[in-house]
Amino acid sequence: AKIILRTFHVGNLTISRLCQSTVITAVNGKLPGPTIDVHEGDTLLVHVINESPYDLTIHWHGIFQKLSAWADGPNMITQCPIQSGGSYVYRFNVMGQEGTLWWHAHVSYLRATLHGPLIIRPREAYPFPKPDKEVTIILGEWWKDNVVDVDTQALLTGGVPNISDAFTINGKPGDQYECSKDMYRLTVYSGKTYLLRIINAALDHQLFFKVAGHSFTVVAIDATYTNPYTTDVIVTAPGQTVDALMVADASPSLYYMSARAYASSKGAYNNSTATAILQYNYNTSLSSSSQPLAPKASMPVMPAATDTDTAHRFYTGPTSLVRPGNPTAVPLEVSTRMFVAFGLGLATCQPQQLLCNQTRGALAASMNNVSFQFPTGISLLEAHYKGANGVYTTDFPNKPAVLYDFTSNKIGMAPFTEKATKVKRLRYNETVELVLQNTAILGTESHPIHLHGFNFFVLAQDFGNYEESKARAMYNLVDPQVRNTVAVPAGGWAVIRFVANNPGVWIMHCHLDMHLPMGLATVFEVEDGPTADAILPPPPSDFPIC
Ligand code: C2O
Repeated sequence: AKIILRTFHVGNLTISRLCQSTVITAVNGKLPGPTIDVHEGDTLLVHVINESPYDLTIHWHGIFQKLSAWADGPNMITQCPIQSGGSYVYRFNVMGQEGTLWWHAHVSYLRATLHGPLIIRPREAYPFPKPDKEVTIILGEWWKDNVVDVDTQALLTGGVPNISDAFTINGKPGDQYECSKDMYRLTVYSGKTYLLRIINAALDHQLFFKVAGHSFTVVAIDATYTNPYTTDVIVTAPGQTVDALMVADASPSLYYMSARAYASSKGAYNNSTATAILQYNYNTSLSSSSQPLAPKASMPVMPAATDTDTAHRFYTGPTSLVRPGNPTAVPLEVSTRMFVAFGLGLATCQPQQLLCNQTRGALAASMNNVSFQFPTGISLLEAHYKGANGVYTTDFPNKPAVLYDFTSNKIGMAPFTEKATKVKRLRYNETVELVLQNTAILGTESHPIHLHGFNFFVLAQDFGNYEESKARAMYNLVDPQVRNTVAVPAGGWAVIRFVANNPGVWIMHCHLDMHLPMGLATVFEVEDGPTADAILPPPPSDFPIC
């Protein structure tokens, strides 16, 4: 195991996309940001130097942060932001997980341009045939406007933020947009096997991804190995990753890769397609400038944007790879059961909200009718560590106050949402089972629910209202998916289970970025354990305070 040191200079970058030059916030002048490549067991130190005009934090999405909650990164949950002009060293061990994760800003809309891969290689071999080459594919979203302004504007008006202007593959929209030619290009050799590490870094869209003429064998999701799963389409929700093998076995030619939205709701969505080119290294003369490449390439047939069947098939298809000595067997005894109904609804107006109807209230999102309020002045983790009073309460409800028809969009059925900073306290090492039930008060939608600090087992998921006996009959307790982000089916539910073996405070939230400031979150406060190796250490000396 090594100690790996990296430096992130965060600052302005002027970049041209869709024929318009825009100033974005970027790490080390790159979009996507730099790749962090480590081996399981390494210790990572990332020195973040904030030379940007914004206060910000960086989160290491999917990393367990065992006994290092101070490095997790969600703004006002585990730290105050690194102020413009300030710096902080995120220090943590990368233990007990392998595969593709990523890092991203965890404040406002900054993750649109502040993100990059975090690759964890096994200390020994992969549990699948060694690929000839590894390729990272980051799917993203692009706004012509400043993304912080997009977010601020939505918060002020109490509405939803503007949708993006393009999707991107490795930072580039591709040639299907007006005024866009620049494309990511991947050269392959016939017969070789490529490991694609696919990351959905889009803010607000689940995405279909295909490569014309090629199929994939999924070998990992969210940095956990799966049994080989063959498919010609990859589906990812924001936050999720998929590692897939792809053999260059098509006739040597040019092929498009495409990414477009899986739009689970009837709301507005970005209906465009990002493209990149896969080209066989068969005859370089064809790529001469007199012969433009793109028009000759074949285009994959993408699923319709509303194709929930295809999304559901992919989301429920892979099972986890159970290996000898696998430490991640499903715990069978559950100590805490919770039913979390979540989605969009209405809450009382905030004083500064412009478009708020005083009787109906303002658009808000909630879990169990609590719209999560981020604390100000002190982070939750610091308040937890110091035992500070008045920052949060521990009465996050175990279930909704009223059980109603969650799949029906009648506003009157759900109780009015309250705005509060409520956490659920857990004892160290207890096993928690959560029913995650989507609500449909303002229309059905699939929300990607992400838990910090832990992976969880996805025991079952389906459409409609959760029914205990039906759900239990569906439980996979043998080789369920192990994830950090589950796209709960639109108008449906999922049951997840995790062991609270990491002291600290851990946010669970919708990874559609527009829903986080609206309150689609809650927090688990995990107490210290009985032994020295289960006690949250003190904060590092450079820990940012407000
Ligand atoms: Cu990918 Cu709370 O984050």
